[in-house]
Amino acid sequence: MNFPVKICDNYSLVERNTLGLPSTARYYAEANTVAELQSALAFAREKQLPVIPLGGGSNVVLGDFLDALVVHVNLKGKTVLSRDQDCVRVRAEAGENWHEFVLWSLDNQAYGLENLSLIPGNVGAAPIQNIGAYGVELTDSFVSLEAMNLESGQVEYFDRQSCRFGYRDSVFKREKRDQYIIVAVTLDLDATLKPNLGYGQLGDLLARRLGDQAPSAVDISRAVCDIRREKLPDPSEVGNAGSFFKNPEVSPSEMDRLKQEYPNIVAYPLGQNWKLAAGWLIDQAGLKGEREGCVGTYQKQALVLVNHGGATGRDVLSFSRQVQQKVNEKFGVQLEREPRLYMDDDKIPL
Ligand code: FAD
Ligand code: EPU
Repeated sequence: MNFPVKICDNYSLVERNTLGLPSTARYYAEANTVAELQSALAFAREKQLPVIPLGGGSNVVLGDFLDALVVHVNLKGKTVLSRDQDCVRVRAEAGENWHEFVLWSLDNQAYGLENLSLIPGNVGAAPIQNIGAYGVELTDSFVSLEAMNLESGQVEYFDRQSCRFGYRDSVFKREKRDQYIIVAVTLDLDATLKPNLGYGQLGDLLARRLGDQAPSAVDISRAVCDIRREKLPDPSEVGNAGSFFKNPEVSPSEMDRLKQEYPNIVAYPLGQNWKLAAGWLIDQAGLKGEREGCVGTYQKQALVLVNHGGATGRDVLSFSRQVQQKVNEKFGVQLEREPRLYMDDDKIPL
């Protein structure tokens, strides 16, 4: 069989994951078109190898060797599909850079993504964990996505309900895990700006900058970028994958117990339950800025694990387990990893 897509073997992914971990893919392909994606999948089927889709590599922890075909999903295109007085429907292909897509939407007078500025990675990965920041999540504007079924090679359609979005969660992390490659996403954005400034730090910064003047979408986007640059390490300078753990959800009775012991605990209501600030828990466990060998927590944000240089995926995993253990010992709360782990033997619990 003839495969039109170029397949590389023993390909280094060190430049392709923001933690900067050394990792070699047995096979690697870059898919610029749906046809190339289909031919890459046919290759993997023939070799009986698993397929790992990769966007910007900003939410993965990679092992030294991946016995798989890693496919860099690089389909490009951004389109305004329709516009009326309330709504601008837009579509972006999976390989578009997320932040560039946000800026493009604002240039097109389509609003609602400004709070999601500067999240690393590509459009195709955004639905996987329903990216969120500063009071907004992808699901708020999401209409549908198209995804290629790894088995059949056919493109299928998912509406919002079938994606089953939750906090850092979707059907693609659960029942349909490892079964699809997302190729395009369609969103309904607002034709007029409806600022969402509920996240304290964002509202405060804009009030300091603008006083009583109403912020434009660009003002909001810039403020979000500035807050993020202040708090989060730039992956081009320090290897990291953003928040390494999710903010854990606890029941009201659990919250009462914690509040009694730790009156200053940081938590937000989440339906009937509470969401704890994992960064606060790690910080209060005395682990902010801690380091063991090449891996540590970031000095300005304890929820972010950083590769100080020379770490492997196993080093990161081992350090993250120590953090989980110490937080559990102190607070009785289990932290769940946010980035996806890919290790050669696949025996490590996720
Ligand atoms: P990758 O890391 O390449 O992939 C992540 C997962 O998605 C993998 O399992 C991969 O197989 C899968 N995947 C990738 N592309 C596809 C596709 N086309 N089809 C199917 N599966 C696919 N996240 C937030 O939600 N909010 C934040 O505020 C935030 N801040 C961050 C800040 C920093 C500094 C960093 C480094 C990360 C941050 N993240 C944040 C995490 C990350 O940016 C998001 O999860 C992003 O959506 C990952 O995109 P990616 O293209 O890099 O995905
Ligand atoms: N905090 C500390 N010490 C720390 C870190 C945080 O006390 O070392 C406290 C802060 O003072 C604050 C609270 O924890 O009161 C929350 O911190 P922050 O506002 O930085 O947000 P976060 O909950 O740590 C979440 C997301 C981020 C997202 C921001 C902004 C998760 C797991 N993380 O972080 O997403 O950008 O809110 O909305 O939900 C990511 O997913 O990779 C990510 C960066």
